Amino acid sequence: MEIDVFTLFPEWFDWFESQRHVRNALGQGHRLEYVNYRDHTPLSGGQVDDTPFGGGAGMVLRVDVVEAAMRARYGQDPTALRTQRRVVALTPGGRILDDDLVEELAAEPALTLLCGRYEGFDERILEHLASDRLSIGRYVLAGGELAAMVVCDAVLRKQPGALGHEESAVEESFSRALGGLPEYPHYTRPADYRGWPVPDVLLSGHHANIRSWRLEQSRLRGEREASTPEEPPARGSLP
Ligand code: ADE
Repeated sequence: MEIDVFTLFPEWFDWFESQRHVRNALGQGHRLEYVNYRDHTPLSGGQVDDTPFGGGAGMVLRVDVVEAAMRARYGQDPTALRTQRRVVALTPGGRILDDDLVEELAAEPALTLLCGRYEGFDERILEHLASDRLSIGRYVLAGGELAAMVVCDAVLRKQPGALGHEESAVEESFSRALGGLPEYPHYTRPADYRGWPVPDVLLSGHHANIRSWRLEQSRLRGEREASTPEEPPARGSLP
């Protein structure tokens, strides 16, 4: 698949691209490219944002700047582009990213991710240039770049071969294979540590029993997470 990230900070993604599963995916022919809004702004002095009409704090990414960057990249009117490929604006109020949405995006041949900055986007970008609005959670980040990395990470690791042989994205938390439930617990050596033993069934070598224990644990975790949020251990007073 090909992913284009529109951002003011393409260099932030250097670290991201050094991750093994991202390198694997890119080595297999998937593409991750960047467009810097500032390189295409029609405004003087590299201006990309402006103060909000009606007043208020912060700056808003301009619609003409985003359109110019998209036209430069795709050579067509972005209002038509969004009917041909998913153009995803990263914004805290968008559709919350979950495994279903990741699967959906991972199956696309091409994705465009629009990162906002400052107070976010001029609303007309969301209405007329984007096809989707996506949020990684109900909190506000300083910009969309970290959210774009989250999306790219989750989508690229779903590509066949990205994780290598030893890992699999098929049966993991929230996947269809686990019916959308959290993944079961994992243990490794030592089998007993400080009196915290690994459950006997996992040492039994009995595959059917291990399977049903794991599915049951997934179910229990799902129930627990749906009810009360887990409390952290009580903290004593500071020394
Ligand atoms: N940009 C700022 N905050 C964000 C969030 N929570 N999700 C996606 N994009 C964002």
